[in-house]
Amino acid sequence: MSIDPNLNPDSPISVGSGIPGLGIEVARVPEPVRRRVEAWHRDGLSVGLVPTMGALHAGHRALVKAARAEMDRVVVSIFVNPRQFGAGEDLEIYPRTENEDLAILTEERADLAWVPSPDIVYPPGFQTTVNAGALGLPMEGAHRPGFFDGVATVVAKLFALTRPHRAYFGEKDYQQLLVVARLGEDLDLGVEIVPVRTVREDDGLAMSSRNVRLTPEERATAPVLHRTLCRMAARLADGASDPATEIAWGTQRLLSAGFQAIDYLDVRDPRTLDPVTRAGVPARVLAAANLGSVRLIDNVPVE
Ligand code: PAJ
Repeated sequence: MSIDPNLNPDSPISVGSGIPGLGIEVARVPEPVRRRVEAWHRDGLSVGLVPTMGALHAGHRALVKAARAEMDRVVVSIFVNPRQFGAGEDLEIYPRTENEDLAILTEERADLAWVPSPDIVYPPGFQTTVNAGALGLPMEGAHRPGFFDGVATVVAKLFALTRPHRAYFGEKDYQQLLVVARLGEDLDLGVEIVPVRTVREDDGLAMSSRNVRLTPEERATAPVLHRTLCRMAARLADGASDPATEIAWGTQRLLSAGFQAIDYLDVRDPRTLDPVTRAGVPARVLAAANLGSVRLIDNVPVE
């Protein structure tokens, strides 16, 4: 029986994941990642990072493709970060599909998968955290207290370990994108944050790892969220209406379609996330709403 070299922090990263046919390098402890990245930097290669929680779908693939197209080396992290899940949230049932994920990353020609366990990322004695600040307080932050502190902390750790020149984040999680961009600026992390457009199913539903938990009936209702946001954005863009009117209309539309609880439906400044109160200015329409046991989020620009 051979010993998995990834379990030994002093051994080099294994070539191959241990799964037949997969060629990607997989690291489960930090030391080999540090050494690999250091060698890339020494050789003058550009490094891109795609942070994920796994259960990869076409949205994640778009991030990896963007990184692959621009950078010499691509690192993808797969880590379901306990610090961004609140009590009663779906940490335990969050989908975990590591073998499929590694197959996808191999197909997309990522160079290195960083796949740590929680005790590696947060060993006993861990206590230093990042506070995400004001951008992390409204909307997602208001409904998931501590969420963005958890995201900012893990992303800061990912940046420190993998030292990317660029990191790729989806517009699907628009507030997260802004929080992470601010984090990079404020802490002088020297990472360029690259936004990637939201990838959708044919009917407009934003791809999400949580979509697999929708019942067939809920799945049929789910695209109403995107349609509603688009209608609101279109009427705001042509100045035919104002945010308060549109938010009231959108709320009714979602409730009558079968969404049970709307955490927020807001029109906000695309950079500061301050509430926007009139039409005809740059804005973003953002929402989180529950369909059965699944919480869906989405957003669209007002252009
Ligand atoms: P996760 O939900 O796995 O998403 C990883 C990245 O994929 C995020 O940047 C997210 O915005 C992007 N993404 C997800 N669905 C997308 C879609 N349909 N189109 C485009 N991009 C999409 O977001 C997280 O993980 C975590 O908070 C993380 C940043 C990894 C920190 O733990």
